[in-house]
Amino acid sequence: MNFDIKDPSLAPEGKKRIEWAERNMPVLRKIREDFSKRKPLKGVKIGACLHVTTETANLVITLKEGGAEVFLTASNPLSTQDDVAACLVKDYGIPVFAIKGEDEKTYYDHIRAVLSRKPQITMDDGADLISTYHREYKNEFEVIGGTEETTTGVIRLRSMAEKGVLLYPVIAVNDAATKHLFDNRYGTGQSTIDGILRATNVLLSGMVVVVSGYGWCGRGVAMRARGMGARVIITEVDPVKALEAVMDGYEVMPMEKACEIGDLFITVTGNRDVIRKEHIEKMKDGAILANSGHFDVEIDVKGLEEMAKEKRKIRKFVDEYKLPDGRKIYLLAEGRLVNLSAAEGHPACVMDMSFSNQALAVEYILREGKNLEKKVYILPPEIDERIARLKLESMGIEIDKLTPEQLEYLSSWELGT
Ligand code: NAI
Repeated sequence: MNFDIKDPSLAPEGKKRIEWAERNMPVLRKIREDFSKRKPLKGVKIGACLHVTTETANLVITLKEGGAEVFLTASNPLSTQDDVAACLVKDYGIPVFAIKGEDEKTYYDHIRAVLSRKPQITMDDGADLISTYHREYKNEFEVIGGTEETTTGVIRLRSMAEKGVLLYPVIAVNDAATKHLFDNRYGTGQSTIDGILRATNVLLSGMVVVVSGYGWCGRGVAMRARGMGARVIITEVDPVKALEAVMDGYEVMPMEKACEIGDLFITVTGNRDVIRKEHIEKMKDGAILANSGHFDVEIDVKGLEEMAKEKRKIRKFVDEYKLPDGRKIYLLAEGRLVNLSAAEGHPACVMDMSFSNQALAVEYILREGKNLEKKVYILPPEIDERIARLKLESMGIEIDKLTPEQLEYLSSWELGT
């Protein structure tokens, strides 16, 4: 088997951690049991470009149980857990092409290694696999359909569909309610704080934390930072989201002002250049910058490099930049996803739902692919409902059922009183 990982001898450690995650993924376990009996993915080649974590391992093992042949590459050069990659290769026979800290060329070579296997289904987190297919492989083989895990990837794919260049249907897994309401909010909320604390060991209590972007991820990050005693400021460009943040009790102001008072800055916008030179120019000595948006473009790292007269790595995921006036600014994880670089990404409990959506999305594409157009689709709401029910069940939580009278009342317009 062809693969490229850091060190196969790390497999035993990876195996234990994958099992630990599996304990907290009861919905995916159920889907695995079902896939294992029915083999709905029999003989299908899947190319997956996802963060190589313990949770992803459980997803690809599930796909393999369903009969698929899976090839895995990383969706970020810093997020790979090398022990997990080793275990997938050694214990599960799944070819993985990913090494934590790989350079950009290797990152894309690994994506090409997966595409050269001619997958029939692509799975993305950030759309790098699918965009490389469109650039370099579209004339070599056809793809039935794809799935996309995150907001930034969905934005890229919608833009391809609008311009008429998307070559096959893609399911926006991110847009499932059981994905973004939980993964983006509670997953990113907790794991971003986790990454920052593991990298720095700062006390959040009493800090002024500036969160840029009050979307699903930003809400989660702000909520958790406040919960730990931070004074939270939100920056936004969307008036509705900004108003929501105000009414949720946060201070809201432009970055131009926030940059002067923040101790810790966290970007989660999915946009570029949110923190720029002119902001860094006004920051306090000791300000910490972290990003949890998908790409490393939210903080102008190049600008920071240009402004600094000295730079040193002061802790594993902390670079200290000394500005000419003596102020020091700290950048975490090189401005890349802090939760996946300095910590382990989202907890398994929440990825359980995201990856159950992924597994069912693959089955859906195989069944419905020929009837779908070259567009971005959301999963049918029944799948969301099924996942939510299974999750509640696994938590031992029961809910009410509509009575026939309630059903009729909710579906009629005649009954006013
Ligand atoms: P969203 O679309 O719900 O929220 C983004 C928010 O940022 C919007 O409210 C938008 O108005 C705001 N925004 C855009 N430009 C801005 C600017 N210049 N200044 C301030 N606010 C600005 O998106 P979501 O789901 O919250 O995702 C955000 C990013 O996080 C994406 O890149 C997504 O792919 C990524 N993501 C990261 C995860 C992680 O593990 N770290 C997990 C899930 C998503």
